[in-house]
Amino acid sequence: MAQPVPVLLWAWGTLTALAGAAQGSFEVSVSPEAAMVEHGGSVWINCSTTCQVPGASGGLETSLIKTDRKNGSSWVAFRLVNIKEWASSPQCYFTCGGTIKLVTANISAYRAPERVVLEPLPEMELGQAYNVTCWVLNVAPVTHLTVTLRRGGETLHTETFQNHTGTGPDDITVITEITPQRSDHGQEITCHTALDLHGSHFKNSSSAVELKVYGEFPHAPCAIHTVPPCTRDTLHAP
Ligand SMILES: *[C@@H]1O[C@H](CO)[C@@H](O)[C@H](O)[C@H]1NC(C)=O
Ligand SMILES: *[C@@H]1O[C@H](CO)[C@@H](O)[C@H](O)[C@H]1NC(C)=O
Ligand SMILES: *[C@@H]1O[C@H](CO)[C@@H](O)[C@H](O)[C@H]1NC(C)=O
Ligand SMILES: *[C@@H]1O[C@H](CO)[C@@H](O)[C@H](O)[C@H]1NC(C)=O
Ligand SMILES: *[C@@H]1O[C@H](CO)[C@@H](O)[C@H](O)[C@H]1NC(C)=O
Ligand SMILES: *[C@@H]1O[C@H](CO)[C@@H](O)[C@H](O)[C@H]1NC(C)=O
Repeated sequence: MAQPVPVLLWAWGTLTALAGAAQGSFEVSVSPEAAMVEHGGSVWINCSTTCQVPGASGGLETSLIKTDRKNGSSWVAFRLVNIKEWASSPQCYFTCGGTIKLVTANISAYRAPERVVLEPLPEMELGQAYNVTCWVLNVAPVTHLTVTLRRGGETLHTETFQNHTGTGPDDITVITEITPQRSDHGQEITCHTALDLHGSHFKNSSSAVELKVYGEFPHAPCAIHTVPPCTRDTLHAP
């Protein structure tokens, strides 16, 4: 009664292996999994498989335009061109022993801002509050944008937009309040943008706006953030 056991085990093992092949004990992968492409640009997408069955066939399902194709025994790559969809998800597939497997890649298109502009500032009265406004026009994807307002080399304000909805280009307004001090007279305000795309940075900046500050300039240096602003009167008050 001992003999049939190994035979049964052998048969069971073989069936499991065959079932495994038929049910898809193979993998499909795509490279790159996520791509950032300049709006209107192109990218190669490579689909590959671990399938060992000869004649495994694969492809890429996408609404984007395919121009070139290269393939090896276990991979197939396509060049996608003129990418104008702001977000698209081509699907790689392979058929292996009658089973099909899919894997999705994400392609996002980006566009550097068309313009980065600072709103002109009036002549500023010492100690009064003013808004500095920067417009960033026609940029995508806003979720990867950082806008920084600077006074000289000093950062006044930094803003990011991780929660911005929509994948297409948008206009962004960034505002920060400043209360000019005497030492700000002649300083330059600039607005800087950075699109951070998987390690590549695309930077732009506005032209500079010079601060013109007027008011009673005291002889002695003022304490920073004095309210009301220190003037000759307050300094010489009895
Ligand atoms: C692709 O995009 C989808 C939906 O936004 C997301 O769930 C998925 O994690 C992304 N995949 C990769 C590899 O970035
Ligand atoms: C596609 O990927 C396979 C597997 O990683 C690799 O062997 C092949 O060289 C790649 N083809 C191209 C055109 O990059
Ligand atoms: C590339 O694909 C073609 C058509 O599917 C096939 O005949 C050819 O053998 C493939 N090339 C390689 C290197 O596997
Ligand atoms: C932004 O910077 C890129 C180069 O990084 C440049 O080609 C483009 O003209 C700049 N755009 C503006 C609005 O300055
Ligand atoms: C600056 O703008 C904010 C938001 O638009 C507004 O609430 C604030 O009153 C403005 N400050 C000044 C000094 O204009
Ligand atoms: C983005 O949304 C999350 C969840 O709603 C929130 O916790 C986070 O503070 C938001 N981030 C910004 C920069 O607004």
